[in-house]
Formats: sequence, structure tokens, C-alpha cells
Amino acid sequence: MAEVIDGRKVAAKLDEQTKAEVDALVAAGGPRPGLTVILVGDDGASQVYVRRKIKGCEKVGIRSSEHRLPADTTQDELLALIDQLNHDPDVHGILCQVPLPAHIDTRTVLGAISPEKDVDGFHPVNVGRLSTGTGGIVPCTPLGIMLLLESVVDDFVGKDAVVIGKSNIVGKPVALLLLDRECTVTVTHIYTENLPEIAAKADIIVAAAGAPELVKGSWVKPGAVVIDVGITRIMGEDGKEKLVGDVKFDEVQHAKAVTPVPGGVGPMTIACLLHNTVQAAKTISE
Ligand code: GUN
Repeated sequence: MAEVIDGRKVAAKLDEQTKAEVDALVAAGGPRPGLTVILVGDDGASQVYVRRKIKGCEKVGIRSSEHRLPADTTQDELLALIDQLNHDPDVHGILCQVPLPAHIDTRTVLGAISPEKDVDGFHPVNVGRLSTGTGGIVPCTPLGIMLLLESVVDDFVGKDAVVIGKSNIVGKPVALLLLDRECTVTVTHIYTENLPEIAAKADIIVAAAGAPELVKGSWVKPGAVVIDVGITRIMGEDGKEKLVGDVKFDEVQHAKAVTPVPGGVGPMTIACLLHNTVQAAKTISE
């Protein structure tokens, strides 16, 4: 039976470390890290995510504030707020929840956040730093994936890693992080020819295509480690809704280890956001 990697447990351990870092920073006379979250509009899912982020801050002793703006906020108004937050010494992390309303250009807005305060790691400067291995803030989900992998992989050097999905938020950055650990990385996506055969050679599979139950048992080599980033709500055979990942979980029990959905990658994302906020506070206050 494959080991089921408990994302909640790994996230709780990271939260403990983050809390200890916050306490040490404050005890040494440094600032208490502060995160500001901007939410434009009233998207239900975004409201839930933002609430979880704010609650996470409370847990580890990070100060948090929230700017809830109406859906008809103009791009200039949003940019003015970001400019103000960029210059606020009490704000160490700025997160603008996406998706933004259609009349706002997401790239312009995310690019306006100071790279030092960009705790999402979405700013082109942080993307460039990641791709050249020169530090910067690493996006939360890819960072969480690496921490989950580290909990079960002893040595990354020379391992064959296949990433399924090429998004800017997960696929591309996780490929760079794996490359940094000396893996041989193949980035694939739903249009890749011979995807099952390519995946079947991998020691590590990161499935982040957003395609429910794409990865079948025959795609997974015995002893491989499988990280499932997908999360889709589908109708089960019993007529009840259920959450599934990009991996047919029941078919991959010959793997060394696999993440469940939910309870795998998901819990890591907020823990990594809190970690990034403390790193940003340290960098800014240095
Ligand atoms: N919307 C869904 N996930 C995220 C995230 O990680 N960061 C931001 N900014 N928006 C999101």
C-alpha cells in the first residue's frame, strides 16, 4: 500500500516553525510580520480562501488586515491602494486575491506589488529570480509541493520527475524547483503525446493539469512518488458530489507515496503563504 502523505500534518509542522520564527523575530526587537489581503468583488470561493488566510495569520502571530473592495473598483483605484501598501512600513506581505473582475488587468496589478512584498511569488522579478536560482519569494503551492516531496524523498539528485501541467502558478515553478534539486525534469500537459508512457518512467509525478482523474494506475511506476495538485468537484456514481484530484487515487496503491485530495497539497498553500510573509518581513527589516 502506498504511504498517504498527510498534508495537514506537514502544514501544521510548518506553522509551528513559522510561529517560532515570528516569536524570535519579535523577541529580537524586529517587527511583527504583517500581511494585507486585497479582495475585489464578492466571489464566494475567494471569500472563503481569504478568510482561511486571515485565520492562518492569527494562528502563527502574524498581523493581518483586509481590504474588501467593490466589484466596480477601477484599476487605478486598486493600483493606488497597492502603491500605498508598498510604502507602508507595517505591511510586509501584500496578496491580491485572483481572479479579479474582468475590467481589471491582472498582470498589471500583480506586477505593481513590490517584489519584496509579493508573498504569492507572482511578480515577474520573483519569477525571474526563481528561474535563475537567485532567491526571491517562491510561489506558495510549488513550495508546499517541495516540502511534501521532502517528507518522503531522501535524495532528489538524478531522479526522473514528470510535471503534468504548465501553469505559471504551479507547473512551471515546480519544474524549476525540481530542476534546482538536480532532478531530470520533463514538463508535460494535456496535449503531450504519449503522456502515459512518459509518466510511467517517472520517479516523481506532479499532477497539476486540472483534469480530474487523468493519471491512471498504469501511468505510475511501482515505487514512484505522486503529488496530486488537482481539485475538482464532480458528481459521483452515487449521485453525490465529491472532490477528486488529477490522479485516480485508488489505482496508484503500488506507488511509494501519494497525496490525498483533499488533505494533501491544499493545506500546504496557506502554511507556505505564512512562511513567505515572515521571510518578507525579515528581508524588509534587514
Ligand atoms: N486565488 C486562488 N488561489 C490564489 C493564490 O494562491 N493567490 C492569489 N493571489 N489568489 C488566489
